Amino acid sequence: MSEIYEPHNIIVTGGCGFIGSNFVHYVVNNHPGVHVTVLDKLTYAGNPDNIAGLPSDRVELVVGDICDTDLLNKLVPGHDAIIHYAAESHNDNSIADPRPFLKTNVEGTFCLLEAVRKYGIRYHHVSTDEVYGDLALDDPAKFTESTPYKPSSPYSSTKAASDMLVRAWTRTYGLRTTISNCSNNYGPYQHVEKFIPRQITNIIDGVRPKLYGTGENVRDWIHTEDHSSAVWTILTRGHIGETYLIGADGEKNNITVLRMILEMMGQSPDDFDWVRDRPGHDRRYAIDSTKLQTQLGWRPTHTNFAEGLEKTIEWYRNNESWWRPVKVATEARYKAQGQ
Ligand code: NAD
Ligand code: TYD
Repeated sequence: MSEIYEPHNIIVTGGCGFIGSNFVHYVVNNHPGVHVTVLDKLTYAGNPDNIAGLPSDRVELVVGDICDTDLLNKLVPGHDAIIHYAAESHNDNSIADPRPFLKTNVEGTFCLLEAVRKYGIRYHHVSTDEVYGDLALDDPAKFTESTPYKPSSPYSSTKAASDMLVRAWTRTYGLRTTISNCSNNYGPYQHVEKFIPRQITNIIDGVRPKLYGTGENVRDWIHTEDHSSAVWTILTRGHIGETYLIGADGEKNNITVLRMILEMMGQSPDDFDWVRDRPGHDRRYAIDSTKLQTQLGWRPTHTNFAEGLEKTIEWYRNNESWWRPVKVATEARYKAQGQ
């Protein structure tokens, strides 16, 4: 195991989004000596309420764009690390309009890497298992750190491009970076455009959930808090220049997850609509996290998916004022796409 790195003053990009804000909560709750500056553009997916209520001496929000080099030149000096979560993150949006994905995911990562190069600070790059493309449903294999990149969608191809930039900048300019590729997250503060919150909030609204294609597609679910602890482990104990896959052995097909939600919410397991499939829909993702577990000693703690899902349903029931303002527009976008 390498030396333990102790950051004190970090920048979290995208800290008002789903996974970024959960990471900010995780740091505030578990690492008392660390100050967090959140850099977030507050797109449709960012909500300052996600970090409201956290102590103001521990967390500062700077509203701005990761593509704004002048802002980065003002903000980065004095910080010891950037943990980069900001992204356009939704596959369906990337299929409808890929341009913002290129701008934020590729150019935004470039701008951050240039700032990291100029100011010599540490950088952790948060990425997705979707860079590896998909696996067949009957394939016993899982993704590992040596699986070739084969992204399928505009979203995953821009994330793959951003990973490549990090590797090139690390090798050529000697930047101190690490990369993680995580599987599908679930938990509080996830935008209602994503699969699990969309179905929960539809059921609360008396609308039938929507299942794409055959419903056989498999996702490898991990609770977002386990993602946060894994990123912290990699930031503080990971080897510079290395990539670590993050997953918690949570493979389930979509119809199984949907039926669990329906039953947990007191509905019939068949009370949903089949809708148009996503073009290029990846069949299966599955992560082998042996490297992270054996080399850095990380373990997930939220390993009971049914329990995590119950709590997530509870969270959406108790936080209607959080998701209600964006629900109508989200469903209108889906309706226009036949989904
Ligand atoms: P999200 O869409 O919920 O949040 C993205 C955040 O980034 C928002 O707060 C948004 O305002 C901000 N943002 C977008 N463009 C920006 C810009 N140009 N400048 C500054 N801020 C900007 O996304 P998420 O689901 O929380 O994903 C976070 C990261 O984790 C992404 O990099 C994503 O690729 C990665 N990831 C997500 C999953 C998943 O299951 N959702 C799994 C693995 C990896
Ligand atoms: P999503 O949450 O968009 O994550 P990702 O595309 O990154 O895996 O979708 C998860 C799975 O659920 C994916 O196979 C697509 C499917 N899906 C539906 O069946 N219905 C829906 O309404 C949505 C949003 C997704």
